[in-house]
Amino acid sequence: MLEKAKFLLTPSARSDVPSFMVMDVMTAAARIEAAGGHVIHMEVGQPAAPAPATAIAAAKAALDAGRLSYTEALGIPSLRARIARYYAERFDLDLDPGRIAVTTGSSGGFILAFLALFEPGDRVAVTVPGYPPYRHILKALGCEPVLIETTAATRHALTPEMLLAEHRRKPLAGVLVASPANPTGTMMSAEALAALCSAAEGAGIRFISDEIYHGLDYAFAAETAARLSPNALVINSFSKYFCMTGWRIGWMVVPEPLIRTVDRLHGNLAISVPTLAQIAAEAAFDGAAEMDAVKHGYEDNRRILIEGLPKAGLDTFLPADGAFYLYADVSRFCDDSFDFAKRLLEEAHVAATPGIDFDPVHGKQFLRFCYAGSRGEMHEAVRRIGDWLR
Ligand SMILES: Cc1ncc(COP(=O)(O)O)c(C=O)c1O
Repeated sequence: MLEKAKFLLTPSARSDVPSFMVMDVMTAAARIEAAGGHVIHMEVGQPAAPAPATAIAAAKAALDAGRLSYTEALGIPSLRARIARYYAERFDLDLDPGRIAVTTGSSGGFILAFLALFEPGDRVAVTVPGYPPYRHILKALGCEPVLIETTAATRHALTPEMLLAEHRRKPLAGVLVASPANPTGTMMSAEALAALCSAAEGAGIRFISDEIYHGLDYAFAAETAARLSPNALVINSFSKYFCMTGWRIGWMVVPEPLIRTVDRLHGNLAISVPTLAQIAAEAAFDGAAEMDAVKHGYEDNRRILIEGLPKAGLDTFLPADGAFYLYADVSRFCDDSFDFAKRLLEEAHVAATPGIDFDPVHGKQFLRFCYAGSRGEMHEAVRRIGDWLR
């Protein structure tokens, strides 16, 4: 190929972000299933249940009614008002609906938040282990993700001391935390979140709280950063509690001075979020009873794993406070959890995600199990893991 043509086809350096290793696990699982094997899927972090019946009915009615047009860039006003009401109902928090921005999942929210808050080159702290796209999106936007390692000593929460130590080493422009978190399933107490938010803002570090797993809290009630500071930027989604991953819809609570910025950015980047998903999302709030039943299923699954896995041989895992993840230390059995996951899949037909996706340093010690499946699958997974490890 001519040198010139090669240059035309060379991707940008900032687009060089890694893919998810969980995809490799899914491909291997599909191969086993194609050959007639029955795989218990605990690798992908998504609910097995469908969207609330209220959401599906609203979407069907909207399709029958005909035209679906663009909406306001920040979302349909009645949906924004309904989301604001959710904060009143759950957190006794009076939020101006004008501060709600509807996004294409929380993933769309990250792009808007990072663009609105940071300049290229800005350093933004994220925790490790953590959700990989945080650092990949930051990198693609020209920011520098700063990985702060968390340990069991702080229940895998970022503390003010850890954040400020990094800030003194080299100034940070922002920090992003999640509670409940992926992959650990751990949560920050309301006090810990408040202390971190206040330390960050005191040092001039912008605070972003990913609250996508809110509603799926078992150990204690999750706190929202929206209650702690008007300057915190909150990101949430209909994907997890409302079981609407494929609808691609989420929201942000935006600090008042940044609303117009987010409005302009979103109008240019996407015009608006798909209207059908917005209509369904508004109706999803009426399906809370159905979703609470799904949540109780996760609670049962969590109990089955917490009680069953130690008996099966996997006895070291992080506190499974919320979301639907259990992060198990498998270093007693192997020095590379990728290889362990591969053998677990091939020999016991249980699919789990190797920790290296979430933690480039210590991930080799861990496996993430998603317990969003059925109760029967959890019992079967425990049985298969026990037989396999014996
Ligand atoms: C912690 C966390 N944040 C954000 C997302 C993105 O979800 P969505 O874009 O579907 O809202 C995920 C998905 O698994 C996640 O685990």
